[in-house]
Amino acid sequence: MAATMKCIRIHSFGGPEVLQFDEVAMPQPGEDEVLVKVHAASVNPVDYKIRSGAFLKVDALPVTMGRDVWGTIEAFGSRAKGLRKGDGVFAMLGHGHGGCAQFIALKPNEHAAKPRNLDHIQAAAVPLAAMTAWQGLFDHGHLAQGQRVLIHGGAGGVGHFAVQFAKARGAFVATTVSGEDIGFARDLGADLAIDYRKQRFEEAVSDIDLVFDLVAGDTQERSFNVLRDGGAMISTLKEPDQERAKARNLRTAYYMAQPDAAQLAEIAKLIEGGKVRPAVDTVFRFAAAPEAQAKLEHEHVRGKIVLEIG
Ligand SMILES: NC(=O)c1ccc[n+]([C@@H]2O[C@H](COP(=O)([O-])OP(=O)(O)OC[C@H]3O[C@@H](n4cnc5c(N)ncnc54)[C@H](OP(=O)(O)O)[C@@H]3O)[C@@H](O)[C@H]2O)c1
Repeated sequence: MAATMKCIRIHSFGGPEVLQFDEVAMPQPGEDEVLVKVHAASVNPVDYKIRSGAFLKVDALPVTMGRDVWGTIEAFGSRAKGLRKGDGVFAMLGHGHGGCAQFIALKPNEHAAKPRNLDHIQAAAVPLAAMTAWQGLFDHGHLAQGQRVLIHGGAGGVGHFAVQFAKARGAFVATTVSGEDIGFARDLGADLAIDYRKQRFEEAVSDIDLVFDLVAGDTQERSFNVLRDGGAMISTLKEPDQERAKARNLRTAYYMAQPDAAQLAEIAKLIEGGKVRPAVDTVFRFAAAPEAQAKLEHEHVRGKIVLEIG
């Protein structure tokens, strides 16, 4: 009988109750792929957005949940180079497979060596959120030393990496967070942490080179008022208003983060150098995946939520 494994899939869209524990065939690594035993996977907003039907069409079902993992190599394809059984890797996944599973086959561009100074829970917290922050600030935002950046949502999964990356690059970092996260944001390195529930950020900052928008809506609209002419507004959620941008010569982007093994390795170096650290809010057992998604969707979370799978 062929080997099987457990994974969490959805067969229809809806609330956390549509998450299902399925027994499926073990993945087989392709020629240049590695088969990884998954120890932990993080939970991201995209998980509950996929689950609710906001992202995919019904013909994509069933879908395995989970967009990033850390695990150890079990086996590899004939052309996978430089890796040994038992090596720890962390990965952001491209489409077509999911990390809430006991095993996963990873493509070369999806994984890098796990930072040596992180435990398995912390390592799982990094890939998708950190790569999203990196790509937003640097690939799209072109943030440079000495510039002024405003990061909306600086205490969340993506935001808490963005604050640290921007600081490590030598920027002046302002961020919006809830009042209870002001101290957390300052510990991450923010020069200015604004309680978005109590104060309008326009009263606190101006002459910003880059707005990194993780919130959209009214927050994105109001952010035009704090940008200098010729600045940039980069969003993970919505294309900024093109007319307003053109009138002020602003650069804009709405982007989807992509797997990139070289970038992940660079992030691992910053973590090993002590410049960046992941913050984990709560760890859930594999069986509690529905509760984990519900917490991220409906409650206040500081940093990341991680599912322990191994
Ligand atoms: N395009 C992409 O590739 C991509 C990749 C990753 C994420 N995303 C999207 O980017 C967003 C952020 O992701 P995430 O993982 O960081 O989510 P998250 O962990 O849920 O964090 C969101 C943060 O935003 C804060 N927030 C909510 N309303 C705010 C407001 N009006 N002003 C300032 N902060 C506010 C929340 O703080 P409180 O809890 O204190 O309200 C929370 O800390 C999500 O919508 C996600 O779907 C897109």
